[in-house]
Amino acid sequence: MNAVIDAINKRRSIRAYEAKPVPRELVNTVIEAGNEAPSAMNSQPWRFVVVEDPAVKRKLLDAALPQAKKITEQVKDVDPERYQSIKRRYAELPDPVYYSAPTIIFVIGNGRYAAHSCPLACENMMLAAHSLGLGTCWVGFGAMVTEDGSVRKLLDLQEGDAIFGPVLLGYPKGEAMRPPKKEPKVKWL
Ligand SMILES: Cc1cc2nc3c(=O)[nH]c(=O)nc-3n(C[C@H](O)[C@H](O)[C@H](O)COP(=O)(O)O)c2cc1C
Repeated sequence: MNAVIDAINKRRSIRAYEAKPVPRELVNTVIEAGNEAPSAMNSQPWRFVVVEDPAVKRKLLDAALPQAKKITEQVKDVDPERYQSIKRRYAELPDPVYYSAPTIIFVIGNGRYAAHSCPLACENMMLAAHSLGLGTCWVGFGAMVTEDGSVRKLLDLQEGDAIFGPVLLGYPKGEAMRPPKKEPKVKWL
């Protein structure tokens, strides 16, 4: 099997991590893979904030969790099954947003090209991490920290900045199941 196709097919969102730090050399390799992503006009409209400090993680969780809970209530009627599984995580996990990952990477973009380009950097990072034996998860709930002044300061958030990811990084604990995926909808002309 082609190594890239294999990584694309086998990458999973990882929601449980070993309590083992990721060497900075590997974190840098993952970030460099993100930085190699295509970007509109080669603008590379991103910067990266790497969080390893438990006290900062605590602040992030305190800022994100109430927002995540609010949003979760909105899916109650739309997707009751997902609602129940998220509620279970809130009840069972000490950190149901960042899943106690050793490393959290915020990809922060600004400008007209950020929305198209930054997710490509995130996917590059997730595939590169997988190829290095690391697990990742894009946690949209983890981006809901922007109303907290002290977190804004820590992330150096400026007017117009948007968070992509953040992308969790760590050694996976156990196996993650491939969720069902729809067949691609394709029209050939
Ligand atoms: C924009 C975006 C936001 C996501 N936010 C979350 C999140 O907040 N929490 C979470 O556990 N997973 C999150 N995910 C992961 C998805 O749930 C996951 O990609 C999807 O279920 C498919 O599983 P797979 O990544 O293993 O193929 C997010 C993924 C994307 C692309």
